Amino acid sequence: MIKKIAEACELFYLHFAVKGYEWFQQRCVRKQFYQDPHYKALDQALLKGPNPYRVKEAFPYGETPLCSLKKIADRCGLKASDKVVDLGCGRGRGVFFLAQHYGCEVVGIDMIQPFIERAQRLECHGLKVSFVCEDMRKFDFSQTTFVFFYGTTFSDAFVEELTKAMKALPKGSKIVTVSYPLESLEIVDQFIVSFPWGSGDVYLHLV
Ligand SMILES: C[S@@+](CC[C@H](N)C(=O)[O-])C[C@H]1O[C@@H](n2cnc3c(N)ncnc32)[C@H](O)[C@@H]1O
Repeated sequence: MIKKIAEACELFYLHFAVKGYEWFQQRCVRKQFYQDPHYKALDQALLKGPNPYRVKEAFPYGETPLCSLKKIADRCGLKASDKVVDLGCGRGRGVFFLAQHYGCEVVGIDMIQPFIERAQRLECHGLKVSFVCEDMRKFDFSQTTFVFFYGTTFSDAFVEELTKAMKALPKGSKIVTVSYPLESLEIVDQFIVSFPWGSGDVYLHLV
């Protein structure tokens, strides 16, 4: 009985800790990134859409907070001339943000069709974004210069296959991973950013 009460208290605490974190993050987003009314409308439309955390096929879903994504992009030197791919873009919040904030071309790829269809339907006011519903291991990396891969739940075999596909990247391209580095690639930077679940290790690799 006492164990059950302790578990319930822990769940209650976690729920409110995550809600508090999200509230704080969204406050940062409003202050830092909502000056452009088109972008504000776009991001808010995404947030008002279906809850991605409830999509069974995408479980366990997670998103990089936009303030953390900005830290990553700044520190990794993302440029307007870059061609970016977000591998497993989810509902595409990071894709729109990077295209808006850095002016670069961004492709979002995900296997969940409703995520992709909804992102494709949103009014993006000239942002250079596109969305593909495909297995990321099948993506043609030959035109990409900057890869973002937040893949905390993928198996070693999956990551190995993905790393093979990335051999098509042009020399000088950058690959950013969250949680673990990719084997056999040069790591040129490593740092920590905040995620709802705690501090996440970020690795920058150079091809
Ligand atoms: C942790 S979420 C990352 C969301 C986003 N990249 C971000 O950082 O905010 C991982 C996403 O990868 C997608 N995914 C899982 N396996 C995939 C695959 N083989 N090909 C493409 N997308 C995949 C899931 O549907 C999910 O939306």
